[in-house]
Amino acid sequence: MKKATKLAALVLAMTMLVSVFAACSNSGSAGDSNSNAASQAAGQSSEAQAPAAGTELKFGTNAEFPPFEFVAANGVIGQYDGIDMAIAKQIAEENGKTAVIENMEFDSLLVALQNGQIDAVIAGMTVTDERKESVDFSTPYYTATQVMIVKEGSDITKASDIADKKICVIQGYTGQTCMDEMGYPYEAFKKGTEAVLELVNGKCDVVVIDSATAEKYVSDNQGLKIVEDPTAFEGEEYAIAVQKGNTELLNMINAAIEKKLADGTISSLAAQYAEAE
Ligand code: ARG
Repeated sequence: MKKATKLAALVLAMTMLVSVFAACSNSGSAGDSNSNAASQAAGQSSEAQAPAAGTELKFGTNAEFPPFEFVAANGVIGQYDGIDMAIAKQIAEENGKTAVIENMEFDSLLVALQNGQIDAVIAGMTVTDERKESVDFSTPYYTATQVMIVKEGSDITKASDIADKKICVIQGYTGQTCMDEMGYPYEAFKKGTEAVLELVNGKCDVVVIDSATAEKYVSDNQGLKIVEDPTAFEGEEYAIAVQKGNTELLNMINAAIEKKLADGTISSLAAQYAEAE
């Protein structure tokens, strides 16, 4: 009894500690709610099993996030290309399976995973405490941060400058969580490209999004630049998500990721896709 109380106090203290330090990448936000996902995933089988001995490994993604996943004429998995897609393909093939991609809205991914519609999520997905409540994450394979994309002539130089600017985020991304935590009002778009178009057209002042994806958008569009503010936006880690308790699949994924981190496969994939047009 006493022990339990102590433990509870410790857990509470740790939770509080985490929320103090998680300036941006952790706490719950409306953006992470899955009402829309739930309706999309409704009607799917509720069989929640990874096909351990099956031949297919079904990954869910949202292919709107270059250089991690995007649609291309000739992708590594059908029409899907990017760092994550290459990693997914390798993980599957190294284990005698075929990677299959299910492309869906970012917000639908975790519900689809919980429903057993997919075996794993690979989507440049940041590990957050809130997400950890519903799924298990692999060893992280990439570190990113939120950045601000602005027009070249913008006077924005730090995060606090955007407090009274028109902010665009992407629905359900950690960038939205950040704005919720900072208490800045924003408009949420379904796709990064839509938010960037809004910026290009002068309808918003700043897009808050993950660093590597921001680099892509800036190189694809003239007149934009990136403003970083590490004091406001902490590092985020991308990992693959599996159903809670699916240790068999998680171990398989972790072994593959750890090997690819150690032998440089992931950093060379990241370099290759960062440069690709
Ligand atoms: N890292 C951010 C997050 O986890 C954005 C990920 C977006 N990924 C995607 N495939 N659209 O919220």
